[in-house]
Amino acid sequence: MSEFASAPLKPTTCTSPTDEAGAGKPLLCAIELEKTFDDGGRLITVLKDLELSVVSGERVAVVGHSGVGKSTLLHILGSLEKPTKGKVVFEGQDLFALGPRALAEFRNRQLGFVFQFHYLLADFTALENVAMPARIARLGESRARQLAIEALKSVGLSNKAHRRPAELSGGEQQLVAIARAIVMRPKLVLADEPTGNLDAHTAEEVTNLLVRLNTELGITMVVATHNERLARQMRRVLRLKDGRLWQES
Ligand SMILES: Nc1ncnc2c1ncn2[C@@H]1O[C@H](COP(=O)(O)OP(=O)(O)OP(=O)(O)O)[C@@H](O)[C@H]1O
Ligand SMILES: [Mg+2]
Repeated sequence: MSEFASAPLKPTTCTSPTDEAGAGKPLLCAIELEKTFDDGGRLITVLKDLELSVVSGERVAVVGHSGVGKSTLLHILGSLEKPTKGKVVFEGQDLFALGPRALAEFRNRQLGFVFQFHYLLADFTALENVAMPARIARLGESRARQLAIEALKSVGLSNKAHRRPAELSGGEQQLVAIARAIVMRPKLVLADEPTGNLDAHTAEEVTNLLVRLNTELGITMVVATHNERLARQMRRVLRLKDGRLWQES
C-alpha cells in the first residue's frame, strides 16, 4: 500500500450538505473524538482529536497495527461505547445526545454490526438468529420471518435457514451474522475484522459479499481490518495512527 500522507484528516464539516468533494451528504461524522481508558490507574489515550466524515454509499477501510484503537473507534461510531470527548453525528443527529431508548432504536434500525466472532445464539436456527433484530423492533412474526428470509437470500444461505450455528461452517456462520446485520436494511454497517477468523478463500467470499451489499443495496460500510485484500476492495483506506485517521489511499 502507498505511504500515508503527512497530515491527518481535516476537521469534519458535518453540518454542510455535501462533503468536501461535493459528492454527497455525510451520513456519519466523528468530530474531535477522544477516548482514554483507565488501565489499572494508568490512563491511556487511544483516540485523540480524531476526525472522520463518511458520505452515504461509501465504503471505507480502517487499517492499523494491533492495539491502535480500531475496535474502540468502531464501537464508538456505533454508539456501543461512549467517547471521553467529542461527538458522533449520524444524519445530523448527535448520537450521544440521544436518550437510551432512542439510541437503542438507532442501533436496531439504522446500524448493522459485524464482529470477528459471529455471536450467534447457539440454540436458535440461522433464520431465528437473523430475525432477532426484527423481533426486537416488534415488526410482527411474519414480517420478521420474511425479512430474515430475504437477508439470508442476500448472503446466499437461504438453503441453510433451519440449521443451528453448530451445523454451519465458520464461513457460513459469518454469513449468517452478516445477514443478521442487514436484516433491518440499515444505512450503515460497521464491520470489525469480519474476515479475521476465516481462511483465505472464505475471507474472499465475505469480502465480495460486503462489496456487493455496498454496491447493490447501497449500504454504507466502515470496515476495520488487517486483511489487505479486504482493505483494497474498499473505496477509501484510512490508517489509524497516533490516535487519528490518516488518508492512505
Ligand atoms: N475496556 C478497556 N479498558 C482498558 N483498555 C482498553 C479497553 N479496551 C481497549 N483498551 C486498550 O485500547 C487499545 C486499543 O484497543 P483496540 O481493541 O481498539 O485495538 P485494535 O486496533 O482493535 O487492535 P486489534 O487489531 O488487535 O483488534 C489497546 O491498548 C487496548 O488494550
Ligand atoms: Mg480490534
